[in-house]
Amino acid sequence: MRKSKWTSLFSLMLVFVLVLAACSGDESGEDGADEKDSDEKVKIVYARGKDATKATDKIIEAFEKKYPNIDVEFRDMPSDSGAQHDAYVTALNGKSSEIDVMDLDVVWPAEFAQAGYVMALDRFIQKDNINLDDYNQGALSAANFNAKQWALPKFIDAGMLFYRTDIVEEGNVPQTWDELITKADELQGEKGTKFGYLMQAKQYEGLVTNAVEFIASYGGEIVNENGEVVVDSEEAIQGIKKMVEVANADFVPENITTFTEPESHTSFIEGESPFIRNWPYQYALANDEDQSEIVGNVGVAPLPKGDAGSAAALGGWMTAINAYTEHPREAWEFLKFMTGPEGQKISAIHGGLAPTLPSLFEDEEVLEANPFFKEEGFVNALNNAVSRPVVPNYPEISEIIQIEISKAITGKVTAEEAAKNMQKKIDAAMQ
Ligand code: GLC
Repeated sequence: MRKSKWTSLFSLMLVFVLVLAACSGDESGEDGADEKDSDEKVKIVYARGKDATKATDKIIEAFEKKYPNIDVEFRDMPSDSGAQHDAYVTALNGKSSEIDVMDLDVVWPAEFAQAGYVMALDRFIQKDNINLDDYNQGALSAANFNAKQWALPKFIDAGMLFYRTDIVEEGNVPQTWDELITKADELQGEKGTKFGYLMQAKQYEGLVTNAVEFIASYGGEIVNENGEVVVDSEEAIQGIKKMVEVANADFVPENITTFTEPESHTSFIEGESPFIRNWPYQYALANDEDQSEIVGNVGVAPLPKGDAGSAAALGGWMTAINAYTEHPREAWEFLKFMTGPEGQKISAIHGGLAPTLPSLFEDEEVLEANPFFKEEGFVNALNNAVSRPVVPNYPEISEIIQIEISKAITGKVTAEEAAKNMQKKIDAAMQ
């Protein structure tokens, strides 16, 4: 049957109208977000490791006040970075949309981007004119992979030495690992302390950061800037030896090989040790009247030096959006708030976290809460912090380091053997 000219024209118009409708529908859901009435609430789930400070609650409170139509439910994840990593990987492998926004440890973004677990943020960044130059470029680049930005950095971490100002006299803070060993031994038992020094020596990610610090303080490296594995060196071996010596000293808890951050920070704020190696949040926590018995008695210094100087491991967390979220737009609003100046200021004041927006280091309230942010030792530690290997199969490399360093601490291998084994296994894993 032959169609009349008018019928054809009508069909064409109908197609046109349908296409338009489809396009406009697509546009309103531009970010794949579901259409909602403006006053209908959307709930998003935000996951991160257990927060020992009040910062996360305060951020959510401030965000919900500003965005009354978005409810943020906080999902506590294991504070052990490796356990948290595995929980996300299991959920995201199963394409779960349950979590919308999550924090990533600085060593994960390449892996998560490659696996398709997180959303590239570039279109959001452009749409909202976020100026990436405002960020610490090192922290920012940790989440840049294949020329895309997969997360925005929320805080930087660097390992530091915290000490009790009521036990350690001013000017008497240990400068070298050997001085630390002498002082920790001497001061153990002062003012009711049970130990001399606390660190993180369980077989987990934190052990890697403690090892990186010892190794770098003697001039060693695990993987160099050209991506070559160089851990089987005299310098690295010296660092491992010093770590083994400290972890086996009488002044650390006998069960130090079960200590992650929470075990060590709890012992410190309960007044059990004059010294602890930890991340900057330790300061805010130690001054939290609701939790700490040592409020006002905490000092911060660079970690002790080895033969090559003091070295801090670079840590930190970034915020990303689950690639399978059903609420990308709301997820982005929350991510933007938390990693932006308002959220980072709350993190710095209530969580003692070092901002990735350098301008906040000049903010008076931030400095009042964290006087050490302006100290040279802290700024140097942050600026020179040592990265862990930046590779998509980082978990595999980390596991090798964890196993070998644990064996060295428990005397199953010598420092030399640990270095040799790491060299061989990491080399193979990097092929
Ligand atoms: C801190 C650091 C993180 C590191 C972890 C190890 O959370 O920010 O980068 O991997 O400690 O326990």
